[in-house]
Order: sequence, then structure tokens, then C-alpha cells
Amino acid sequence: MIGFESAQNRDFVGARVIDPTLDLDAIRTIAVRKGVVAALLDGPPPAPDAHVERIDCAGMVLCPGFIDPHVHLREPGDTHKETLRTALAAAAAGGFTAIAAMPNTRPALDDPGRIRQLTADAARRGSVRCYVIGAVTIGRNGAEIAPLRSMAAAGAVAFSDDGFATASLKALYNAARLIADLPQPFLSHCEDPSFAGSLMNEGIVSGKLGVPGQPSIAEASIAARDLLVAQATGKAWHLCHVSAAQTADVLRWARASGIHATGEVTPHHLQCSDELLAAFDARMRVNPPLRGADDVAAMRRAVADGTITIFASDHAPHADVEKEPPFSHACAGFSGMETAVGATFDALATLPCDRIIANFSFNVAKLLGVAGGSLAPGMPADITGLYFNRPWVVDPKSFRSLGRVTPFEGRTFAVRPAMTVVGGAVAWKADDAARRLGIAAPGSRHS
Ligand code: DOR
Ligand code: ZN
Repeated sequence: MIGFESAQNRDFVGARVIDPTLDLDAIRTIAVRKGVVAALLDGPPPAPDAHVERIDCAGMVLCPGFIDPHVHLREPGDTHKETLRTALAAAAAGGFTAIAAMPNTRPALDDPGRIRQLTADAARRGSVRCYVIGAVTIGRNGAEIAPLRSMAAAGAVAFSDDGFATASLKALYNAARLIADLPQPFLSHCEDPSFAGSLMNEGIVSGKLGVPGQPSIAEASIAARDLLVAQATGKAWHLCHVSAAQTADVLRWARASGIHATGEVTPHHLQCSDELLAAFDARMRVNPPLRGADDVAAMRRAVADGTITIFASDHAPHADVEKEPPFSHACAGFSGMETAVGATFDALATLPCDRIIANFSFNVAKLLGVAGGSLAPGMPADITGLYFNRPWVVDPKSFRSLGRVTPFEGRTFAVRPAMTVVGGAVAWKADDAARRLGIAAPGSRHS
């Protein structure tokens, strides 16, 4: 928290405030004092006060700050893909007040020094909070357990070998037992190692193209394995980027069995099927792969029935040249933070918006054990502002991220980030950004 709380007092006036933790959906003034929510005021805005800056939020929806639990930073090691500065700027522009960084940097985040270093570097460079996830195994090699306890003491909020499943069941089981008493959850990338490097989902499209695909069972079997470890050790467990109907069924079974398990879904797995790969478009390579249309529908159902309670962008930027043909050489993943809000609200347009907001905020804060997720008085003033019903067209050229590849290029979404407030300070505002770029303000339908 340190370093973000703004000394300036501010009133955020005129917005519709939606906070699922307070069962609130009404026009309110959010009064922020010393970086903390002081009150949610009903009735007319308070009289001007020279000591309080007034921020006009008419037309906005203000929510508890969104937290992205699955972001691939490329610093250290791959700053040609993304720098810490561009990633944090992309987070702010995506409406995220905080992110959690996966450990698959180079070198991997597998010791306490690196956890501390990245935490400090991010706090210096960015205006949004950055939490760090430590690797389960050294160098994410899947075999030798990393110093988990000292990484937890250094501030790691969770553990994961994301990018891969932890290959050795023995290492994973022992790692979970070693820190069963700590609150940090394990986050599983579910992909059987024998299928790692697959080009696409196994389905009609891979069949037509004659490409060996990766079946759902490659994901679901590791999900089942890891949730059995959760059951055996009592450790809190989270499934990253669930993409297959069968994996959602495994998660349903685990939750019904009393296992402390949660799951996340990405905007692309809620929106895109493997049809996007029908012409061998290298840019659409991602892990887990885009699956069949039935799986996309199953992901939406799993959110609707409460099996999946967390949204994650899986922001994985690559340089343009790394996303070029040949298909088999293209890096997997694409930029996600700046489209996550629009694409997710679009995919789940029939779901009550307070459910969507909780999945972006409170449920993530709870998973990671971090502050935020609520605008109750006394909470840090981390606020995500949205514009509802202000159509915008995804144009990667306007991204803050250096990663310009997205499956959503040219798509029109109705919901967009309007403002990102961290510790009471405005980290990003759509209208300011539009003005700086000399383009029409959002909401004018030309932005
Ligand atoms: O598509 C992906 N890209 N999936 C992952 O798990 C890792 C990520 C990356 O870091 O590029
Ligand atoms: Zn992953």
C-alpha cells in the first residue's frame, strides 16, 4: 500500500456507484481523505471546499478498483515485448488499479530478492499497484521447489509456475505441504506437459487443417490432479485461464466437494473460438488454445452459475515479429489488459453487472489476500470508473502496451474504462487521454 496513498483530499461527484460488497447501486459522492474512502454521500454534492478537489464523474459508473490477477510482465528479460512502464500504463488505461505479475520473466521470479526487486521497481515506475506471484519451482523447472517461505515473507501473494504446469506431482504436493500453513494460494496453469507446445485446440478446425491438436483432457486432467493436491493438503487453489467445458466440470466437482478452489476465465476464452485459427492466423496462437464454440458457451455458463468467479486478462504481449508466420514459430499469447473490460462485459451482457464487477474486484482481492475490492469507508480509495453504453472500436495503435496483437482488433464494445483511481489519485482518465491525443472524447461515438 505504501507510496500510493495521495495526500490530496478529493470528492468524486455525480457518478452511479456500484459496489457489490455494499449491495449498492445508486448516485453517490465518494469522499476520499488521505487516500482512503471516508464516506459515500447520498444527496447533493457537498459545498465547495478549498481543501478538497472536486472530480466530476457525471456519466460514469464507479466501482471498487479492478485487479487483474494474471499479467505477464516482460521485465526483467524481454523489454522488447513490454517494459514495466508500458505494462503499468496499459493496466491503468484498462481500468485496473492493481495487477498481479506472473513469475515467467527471465530470470524467473523464484527467489525473495527478485520478488522484492520487482515490487520496488513497479512501485517506483507505475501509478497502479503491482503484486508479485512467486514461482513454485526454481526456474519454473517443475522439479526443484523454490524458497517459498522466504518469497512469501518478501511479499509474494501467490505461487505458480504459469506458462507451464508444475511437471512433478511430487514437487507440487511437497510444495503445498511445506507452506500449507500460509495463506498464499497456488495458481495452476493446467496443461499436461506431454501436450505443451501444441499449436491449437483439438477439434473440427485442427482436423480440417491436419494439425495435431491439444484436447481438453490435457487441461482437465491437470486441473483434477492439482485440485486433488489441494484436497490432500488443505491448500487454497486457483485454476488459471480455464478454457474447456470439461475443466469447468472438474472445478464444479471440487467446489461441491468442499475443496478450497476457485477459477478464472479470460476475455478471449469467453469470446473467441478456434474458428479464428481456420486460416492459420499466427497472431491467434495462445495457451491454453482458443477452443471450440461449445467450450466458449460453457465458459459463459460457468461464470453465470458461479463456478468461475474471477476474470483475468492473461496479458501476454509479444513483439509484432514474434506473432508473424510461420504459425509453428509464433509466440503464444497477446495483449489483454486494455480490452479486458470491454470484451468481458460484451461476452456476458445478460449477466447482472454487479456480478461482473465482483469478479473483477472483490473476488480477486479475496483470492490474493490483498486490500481493496470494496468502497466501504476505511478501504483504500482504489476506484475503477467505467462508461456504460459508449461504443468504442478496438484499435491496437492506441494501446499503451507495446504488444499490439489482440483477437479483438476492430471489434466494437459498449463498456469502456473511464477512469482509474489508486489511493485516491487519478492514475488515468479517458477524457484526459483523448484530449492529449487530439481525438474525440469517449462517448461521442467517434472515439
Ligand atoms: O499464451 C500464453 N502466453 N500462455 C501462457 O501461459 C504464457 C504466456 C506468455 O507468457 O507469453
Ligand atoms: Zn498460463
